[in-house]
Amino acid sequence: MKRKKIIVGNWKMHLNVHESSLLLHRLNQNIKVHRNIEVVLAPSMLALQPLSVQIDRRKFRLAAQNAYFVDEGAFTGEVSFSMIRDIVHYAIIGHSERRLYFNEGLPLIRDKVAAAIRNDIVPILCVGETKSEYEAHETKRVIHDQLTTAISNLASREIDNLVIAYEPVWAISNGINFANHVIAKPDQVAGVVTYIREIIAELYGDRASEAVRIIYGGSSNAENAYSYLVTEGVDGLLPGGASLNYLEFSGIIAAAARVEALALKEAK
Ligand code: PGA
Repeated sequence: MKRKKIIVGNWKMHLNVHESSLLLHRLNQNIKVHRNIEVVLAPSMLALQPLSVQIDRRKFRLAAQNAYFVDEGAFTGEVSFSMIRDIVHYAIIGHSERRLYFNEGLPLIRDKVAAAIRNDIVPILCVGETKSEYEAHETKRVIHDQLTTAISNLASREIDNLVIAYEPVWAISNGINFANHVIAKPDQVAGVVTYIREIIAELYGDRASEAVRIIYGGSSNAENAYSYLVTEGVDGLLPGGASLNYLEFSGIIAAAARVEALALKEAK
């Protein structure tokens, strides 16, 4: 089964509406329509609506960085998945920054995954171990706990669409020095991606495990993108810092296009 590559730019809490619109404009100038690559942008909640009007839908899709799992009610300050369902295709759920700074625990993340799917939004579920967990060789346990809890309420057909992002917390940049931060090596990423597919296969069977897209995030940029994207089982990237720079981000898309062209040639 051929899985479509997906690159998701996580703009985090950067760029006001005007700056977001400008970045989209630049990306639009630098990125072509790619039939085999999905290019997804995750601006701030505030910029989603204006960008949804500006965006060239043949090139880009939008993702929310977060939303609340209840559809409507007295929850001051929150925005629900049902409110953004007509604007976004995807929603990033369980990002390590949300787990860390906003105390998002496993049950909340599980409820958000279910709410996204209920509202026809595809979850980009982030999983990954912290530095101390990595050093204590707890990567597999952490991934297993985070993943199995998050998807525990889903039916097999709902898994097919899911995007899982492996984001080792120790490899995520501070957004500024995204080029020279410690990075996870492609073979390390490959090991975890294989493990994630094993978990999915065990719970939902081989077909689901083959269908689910697994991407990598953590200091990815135009320079190292190719090395991850040619790695067996890696279906895309979730760059943060590099997604704020249109040349870097366009470079990542170009790397994905090179990998796709190679795959096409090999298939002939
Ligand atoms: P980074 O962020 O590419 O700046 O490391 C990735 C992420 O946190 O999603």
